Amino acid sequence: MNIKIINLETVDSTNEFLKRENFSPVTVVTAKNQTNGKGRRGKKWISPKNRGLYISFLFRKPDNFENLQLLSLSTAVGVAKVLNRLRSGFTIKWPNDILINGRKICGILPEATRDKIIIGIGINLYHTAEELAGADIPATSLSIEKIKADRKVITEMVTDNVISYYQKTVSGEFNIAEFENLSLIQKGDEITIKTEKEKFTAKVLGFDREGFLIAEKDGEIKRLFAGEVSVRF
Ligand code: BTN
Repeated sequence: MNIKIINLETVDSTNEFLKRENFSPVTVVTAKNQTNGKGRRGKKWISPKNRGLYISFLFRKPDNFENLQLLSLSTAVGVAKVLNRLRSGFTIKWPNDILINGRKICGILPEATRDKIIIGIGINLYHTAEELAGADIPATSLSIEKIKADRKVITEMVTDNVISYYQKTVSGEFNIAEFENLSLIQKGDEITIKTEKEKFTAKVLGFDREGFLIAEKDGEIKRLFAGEVSVRF
């Protein structure tokens, strides 16, 4: 596979950079600094210079591939496996936040255009607690957790795993059990689900092959799409 790697000093957002430019897949872009890092749901991603790994991947979108949700779960598995090599204890909060000790350390932003898929990943490497104080949910970094992190080594391991999990996913070989093994939300848990219209508690039944969360509320089975709901314990 032909992979082009671009390392930038400063950019607004590595995802936006890949959307703007006309690179061919597979292109990987990293930046030391993002002036307008983007999070999910229109939020900002705290991106101070030299503190995080800010990396985006450009892949070709296979014909009839619409399941960005599963890809976002499988990418989280690939990245969590890298982090768990540094120290065990990293889990995934569905759909794709990676947490350690109950705090978020990595976020993933998948986006699709007509023929391309862009997956942006932010990992907090060297942030201080002060720098993360403005995060929307409690956040941490490898430094705060006292985990030694070599930017170059982590970048290479993340790149390898993200590409291999993308291939597994588009070829239908990704097994949702890999996600379930790392999931913070487990079968039988009582969770609170918030949609635009309602908020309710439900019992988790599991995750299906397309990455939907299956939960039961008063005898009714709900199949929940990550883009439309948020989940709390
Ligand atoms: C989230 O809200 O959890 C998703 C965060 C994704 C952040 C990464 S950093 C690299 C890429 N460029 C961006 O602007 N966002 C993603």
